[in-house]
Amino acid sequence: MSEKVLVYTAWPYANGPLHLGHIAGCYLPADIFVRYHKQKGDQVLMLSGSDQHGTPITVKAETEGVTPMDIAQRYHEDFLKSWDKFGISFDLFTRTTTENHAKVVQEIFLDLLEKGFIYKNTMQSPYCGHCKKFLPDRYVEGTCPHCKSTGARGDQCDNCGKPLNPEDLIDAKCKFCGNKPEIRDTDHYFLKLSAFNDQLLEWVSKQEHFKPNVYQFTKQYLTDGLRDRAITRDILWGVKIPVEGCDDKRIYVWFEAVIGYLSAAKEWSEKQGNPDLWKEYLQNENVKSWYFIGKDNIPFHTIIWPAILMGYGKMNLPYDVPSNEFLTLEGKQLSTSRNWAVWLPDYLERYEPDPLRYLLSINMPETNDADFSWNEFLRRNNNELVATYGNLVHRVLTFTGKHFEGKVPVPGELDEQDKQLLELAKKTVDDMDSSLSRCKFKEAIRAAMSLAQESNKYLDTTAPWKKIKEDRERAGTSLWVVINLINTLKTVFNPFLPFSSAKLHSMLGFEDKLEDHGWKYEEIPGGKTLGKPEPLFKKFEEEIVEQEVQRIREQSGK
Ligand code: MF3
Ligand code: ZN
Repeated sequence: MSEKVLVYTAWPYANGPLHLGHIAGCYLPADIFVRYHKQKGDQVLMLSGSDQHGTPITVKAETEGVTPMDIAQRYHEDFLKSWDKFGISFDLFTRTTTENHAKVVQEIFLDLLEKGFIYKNTMQSPYCGHCKKFLPDRYVEGTCPHCKSTGARGDQCDNCGKPLNPEDLIDAKCKFCGNKPEIRDTDHYFLKLSAFNDQLLEWVSKQEHFKPNVYQFTKQYLTDGLRDRAITRDILWGVKIPVEGCDDKRIYVWFEAVIGYLSAAKEWSEKQGNPDLWKEYLQNENVKSWYFIGKDNIPFHTIIWPAILMGYGKMNLPYDVPSNEFLTLEGKQLSTSRNWAVWLPDYLERYEPDPLRYLLSINMPETNDADFSWNEFLRRNNNELVATYGNLVHRVLTFTGKHFEGKVPVPGELDEQDKQLLELAKKTVDDMDSSLSRCKFKEAIRAAMSLAQESNKYLDTTAPWKKIKEDRERAGTSLWVVINLINTLKTVFNPFLPFSSAKLHSMLGFEDKLEDHGWKYEEIPGGKTLGKPEPLFKKFEEEIVEQEVQRIREQSGK
């Protein structure tokens, strides 16, 4: 039965290009999930956009002496190119600077204000007497009041992941000049999170399908008790506050960015020519929503966004928030500021998408941090994609081309070994169905690669290239079996390796779209004409490891 499925990813700040950490953290898993559901015939909607407001953007603009909009649009364009080249299949990737977004945010703001879930209050905010301004959250640094780690920022502690208010920091310092900020009164609007504490706790307690870390983190956080948070800032780059007399303030970037989930759905509906279509996804209780995010975004998606939704009413709460852990690079923490990163646009200049999609899937930071190394990239490409999967395909298709006039051989009677392998193919399709539906991506791709390994073993023992001399029908039967295995590999690898699967689909002589064949084991009849065999993957030279590691060292100055 075709289902409606709503898939969201975190909105990346448009202040720099994407790196492998972003990809492994949420865009690749979301895309795998979407492709799998599309293959199943589900009506999937995948939405996100660039997070273009807030200090992450203004800081970058200041350092370059350009406007925040210049920065926001430059990286937005960059993201769009990356999605296209890397095969991340958004139905809409919008941005938070659209008129539509501002309208939706302001409407929710006013609704919550009217209901008393947003209220005005005077707060004490860090003000730097030396720099003569209120300091944005990210411009105050100090010690985290929760975990006591140093270097926590006024918005969040990277060590324990808890969101902070700048005034919570111990030994706060102005990041511009290092002086101790004074505390001044300023009026702001607050989100009454305290009003949702019990309701949120009750809700999250029922979400037993959440990953253990997401579940624990959220529950603990709520058990500790929520405090109301200011959702406006003394800054000029952001969505305007829809109330008179607030011209020198804007809505806080996190409050409005999460509302992007609704504004993007509305924009998508507009573009479909059916402005109310979003309701069928967001208001239909039978439609589940998945929010793919990195672990530093957990509280915004399991507490703040659900609280906004509870206050606003009328819409479904998230079904799942499959947050991934962090990716390290060559054993060290990825860092944008220190340039210890592999940038996706750079990668795509030099390599195909699928080898990276493969490595980041089979070594995904799904429940633990994972490390990306160029050595593993090379090894997995050469041993697994080329030697195991690609080689199997190449041996079988070229041999069939030569000895069976490029047609799938007509099988004779199947023996035990044949039947066993075909059974394994069917079982793999079902097992992976179950893994993928539960976002167990590593488990799924391992099953696919193990099917390729079993197929290779089968080919080695049945050796049709020898058999053909004495028993052509037997050789043809073995080839028919392996061709069906290859066809299954094409199907089950597709969410992970869409470019190679499409190529293999046409090598197997299909002219239609792979997705239309569904998520199932499908037998190829004897006699079907095959396409032209070409290598599926390329082998990498050993030198690239040293070159690529050197490149990261140089760009980071290490
Ligand atoms: N821009 C944020 C980040 O990069 C993520 C925002 S997710 C959203 O950490 F849902 F709030 F948009
Ligand atoms: Zn200062």
